[in-house]
Amino acid sequence: MTAPTISRLFSRGITRTLLTPHPVEHYVRSLGVTWSDDPTGATVVAVDRPVADVTVITLRLPAGVDRPAPGAALEIGVVVDGVVHRRHYSPVDSASRSDGLATIAVRRHPGGVVSEHLWSEASPGMRLLLGNPVGEVTLPEARPTDVLLVSGGSGITPMLSIASTLAGEGHCGDGSAGRVAWLHYARRVEDVPFRDRIRELSRAGVEVRVVPTADVNPSDSSDLSDSSDPSPRGPAGHLTAGHLDEVAPWHADATVFLCGPEGLADGLADALGAERYADVLRERFTASNGPVPEGDGGTVTHVKSGVSAHNAGTTLLEGAEAAGLSPKHGCRMGICHTCTAVRVSGATRDLRTGEVDTEPGCLVQICVSAPVGDVEIDI
Ligand code: FES
Repeated sequence: MTAPTISRLFSRGITRTLLTPHPVEHYVRSLGVTWSDDPTGATVVAVDRPVADVTVITLRLPAGVDRPAPGAALEIGVVVDGVVHRRHYSPVDSASRSDGLATIAVRRHPGGVVSEHLWSEASPGMRLLLGNPVGEVTLPEARPTDVLLVSGGSGITPMLSIASTLAGEGHCGDGSAGRVAWLHYARRVEDVPFRDRIRELSRAGVEVRVVPTADVNPSDSSDLSDSSDPSPRGPAGHLTAGHLDEVAPWHADATVFLCGPEGLADGLADALGAERYADVLRERFTASNGPVPEGDGGTVTHVKSGVSAHNAGTTLLEGAEAAGLSPKHGCRMGICHTCTAVRVSGATRDLRTGEVDTEPGCLVQICVSAPVGDVEIDI
């Protein structure tokens, strides 16, 4: 299909046909493009479900895409029923991994669109969309001497990356200059994925404890469900100052990283005191997709120019031009990215794939995007 042909399709109202929800493959095939031709996505190369409700996925990143710094996350996009859902997952790997692969863990949440989809559907060969790395907190290039990691639940993944990176650099253990301790909280030790990696970290000099918080039998703590495990037994129950003192008696001068639920953060704040807690480096990841409106088209507000106009479902570029604006553009077919603008709010459909995306503050190519409901675009 030639460029003018695609452009004419959008102009002639065939857009409306493309807008009717179908599986993504339908839209892709309709334009003669194969899903696997997308060079910006990640390919699933291995899937494991090592513990209940956790899908561990190894991805091949596209050439030229760097893995996130230790502690940061990849933005993964999954298409479910024609809608793109974006979530953030921290690879667990050390920064030194150089084979182009990244491993993430997705905990299944009841009713969670993405986690349920990946739990049931993820398999080698599956394609996932890839956004920019995100993360407020990463391991600094100038490594802190003493590091205390505190995590709970899904917070295990960024901490695993940080601990693995430090251990791989010889930052802790016999004869090293630094000290690394890690407290990870989970309802039950057997629910924790990556226990084999945690054992390796323990052997590499990381003072690591997996702390069970539910139905605690003190003899269960930190045994990592492996009677041959050499790691010492340790604390149990919710975080206390005693846990910190037991695992990292030197923590007063350590750089403290936290990733976990509010209850864990509150416990750490109580244990450290407000002044010390203010220095804690806390990572938070949130899903930010909003609801998808019924029906295509809507009022498009061009934020910079202050012009609002109704768009019945044609491209945002054509709608802006019809409203008297002259947005920058080039190819008009989604290749050159000249037309890229920030979708401030609302939902838009990518007319090449049929995907609807609602994440606020995202860049969209306005020559191949149409509004689904009211949209604010930074033009
Ligand atoms: S004008 Fe080229 S990508 Fe939109």
